[in-house]
Amino acid sequence: MKDEKDFEGLEKKQTDADRSPLRQRFLRPVDTANELKHLLWQELKLSKLIGGWIPAIPVYEQKMTLGRYAYLHNRNVKCLYERIQELPGGLGEKEWIPDLTNEAMERIFAAPDEKTFFLSYHFVLKKLYEQYDALMLRLDPILNLPTIDQITFIFVERETMLGWVWRQVQFASSNSEEETLLMMEWESYISAVWQAFETNARHQSGADAIIWPVTIAKNPAGPLPEKAKLEPRFPRYQGEKPIQSYSDSSMSVLHDSVKQMIYIYATEIFAGETLSTIYYYVDHMPLPFYFDMARHMWDEFRHSQMGMRRLEQLGYTVDQFKWLTGPGKDDVKQQFTELYSSLTMLGEACGFKKKRKSAEAFWKFGDVLSAVTVEFDLIDERRHIDFGTRWGPELYKKIDVIISFQEMAEKARMRRLTELETVPPEEIAKLAKNFPVFCGFHTSELAYNNY
Ligand SMILES: [Fe+2]
Ligand SMILES: [Fe+2]
Repeated sequence: MKDEKDFEGLEKKQTDADRSPLRQRFLRPVDTANELKHLLWQELKLSKLIGGWIPAIPVYEQKMTLGRYAYLHNRNVKCLYERIQELPGGLGEKEWIPDLTNEAMERIFAAPDEKTFFLSYHFVLKKLYEQYDALMLRLDPILNLPTIDQITFIFVERETMLGWVWRQVQFASSNSEEETLLMMEWESYISAVWQAFETNARHQSGADAIIWPVTIAKNPAGPLPEKAKLEPRFPRYQGEKPIQSYSDSSMSVLHDSVKQMIYIYATEIFAGETLSTIYYYVDHMPLPFYFDMARHMWDEFRHSQMGMRRLEQLGYTVDQFKWLTGPGKDDVKQQFTELYSSLTMLGEACGFKKKRKSAEAFWKFGDVLSAVTVEFDLIDERRHIDFGTRWGPELYKKIDVIISFQEMAEKARMRRLTELETVPPEEIAKLAKNFPVFCGFHTSELAYNNY
């Protein structure tokens, strides 16, 4: 294991004069960049780990907030990145999370259950803010004001995040002696890991030499669970994957109404979780990939929330529907390229017609909020297709496949048509090239004339 990357620039430029107390009081531009990089990698790793944990958390509301927070940590990465790019050294395309940071965070987040996960999250969040506070004290209020501005922006969500994460810890415990003991043991374990991380980062000593504390979690519940979890009040869809998406009327009491669109939005937990697991699983991509992925993932959790809010406003309850969740560990590992291209090139690309028709119908029926909901969704979806077009082929490179975006889209359509088993094999390739006709096979129409 190597930790040199943690302080690469700093180490190279440090001389005896640099170690003098006077010199230590002032940050040079290059020092600032190094301090910010150290924080950036922690923010990115934290954001990815939250993404990986979302499917391991059963509670719907927690999934949704974690989707938002994974995005917010990613936005912090973006803030730091913007300033780093102005400073000497910048951040190279190939630079990646240093092994030491990666290893420490993986250990802290290999928690035995969701309660200890929240404890880990709260612990790391506090440590992050402590580091920002210490740095803020060292930043020159005139020379380094652009850095102060970026960190001030990061601080906007500070109290909200700390408060929410802490409440998940505070109210998670059943107060049984066994559970209290586990929480205490976990806290002292993660403190010890953090101590090892900090000491080694400070002394820049070889990470190989680190003797990490022994974990008490023999079978961590996350990140990436075997199977995605969802609380029992949501009946799971157990049937075979329907011939066309959502064509199985047993999934929803709104099957024969245009309000089925609202239900479809609410089910987008599965899209959010598909993206959050890919976001965690795939390493060594350029930072702009993670910026787009985090936004895409959070949008899908928002779509689920906007659907769920409207369903509840209209008097429906979750037990009147069937629900889908994201992929498990093996699915992501074996087919992250397929999961991503199917989501963007099939689900999202074929959804536009149905959505535009739904918006029109909602206006006609005087359901303003549903109509506006669809309008905002359409804006998000445009961007998602652009993300898919840009990053889909890049993801394929990870498995050593060079593919254009058109080829990727066609491949996804052929996969889907093969799965349907209703199209003669000799027709598949031809049909996959005809996008509108293909969408007719892939997705079902809604009952636009019924409210
Ligand atoms: Fe969506
Ligand atoms: Fe989308």
